[in-house]
Amino acid sequence: MRPARPGDLEPLAELERLGFPLDQYSRKQLRYLLSHANASTYVMEGEGVIQAYAMVLWRRGSRVAHLYSIVTHPDFQGRGLGTTLLLQVEGEAVQHGCTRLRLEVRADNAIAIGLYQRRGYKLVKELPGFYTDDAPGLRLLKQLPRSAVRRR
Ligand SMILES: CC(C)(COP(=O)(O)OP(=O)(O)OC[C@H]1O[C@@H](n2cnc3c(N)ncnc32)[C@H](O)[C@@H]1OP(=O)(O)O)[C@@H](O)C(=O)NCCC(=O)NCCS
Repeated sequence: MRPARPGDLEPLAELERLGFPLDQYSRKQLRYLLSHANASTYVMEGEGVIQAYAMVLWRRGSRVAHLYSIVTHPDFQGRGLGTTLLLQVEGEAVQHGCTRLRLEVRADNAIAIGLYQRRGYKLVKELPGFYTDDAPGLRLLKQLPRSAVRRR
């Protein structure tokens, strides 16, 4: 695992296309987020191929971190990459002084919902018509352990 670099734009855009055929972030959005001080992005790389990535957003003055995207390439799913990225993001959120991590997920995305529920995420809000194809979403939230590290 390593932090993403601006040069990762194309593989990340491809992961978005594969992971979210209907709701992917555009290259322009990704380019902005990759250079955005209030976002952290991690990639899992093997043999020169980016196999998975996750992006978390921080908001100044907020203790709630936002998991903005997490995708594993279909060829590499089920090998623990998503879980590893989620643990990394949770740990970094704690280091940032965040007390909660929130995310939105399609209500029919059973695999992702299962992953989140097993890791302690709870449903906080149903989001009818949240996605561009009008599909409903769910907002999930996890209470994070307290950090001994002072907030930025
Ligand atoms: C959700 C996602 C990121 C998980 O990535 P991953 O690398 O497969 O994750 P892991 O290998 O750590 O597996 C996580 C859990 O999902 C399960 N899982 C993964 N792929 C699965 C599959 N095809 N069928 C059933 N379960 C599956 C694993 O068994 C594991 O279960 P556990 O928590 O009991 O150990 C991946 O499925 C993905 O990219 N989906 C498309 C994009 C997406 O939906 N992102 C989330 C949006 S909120």
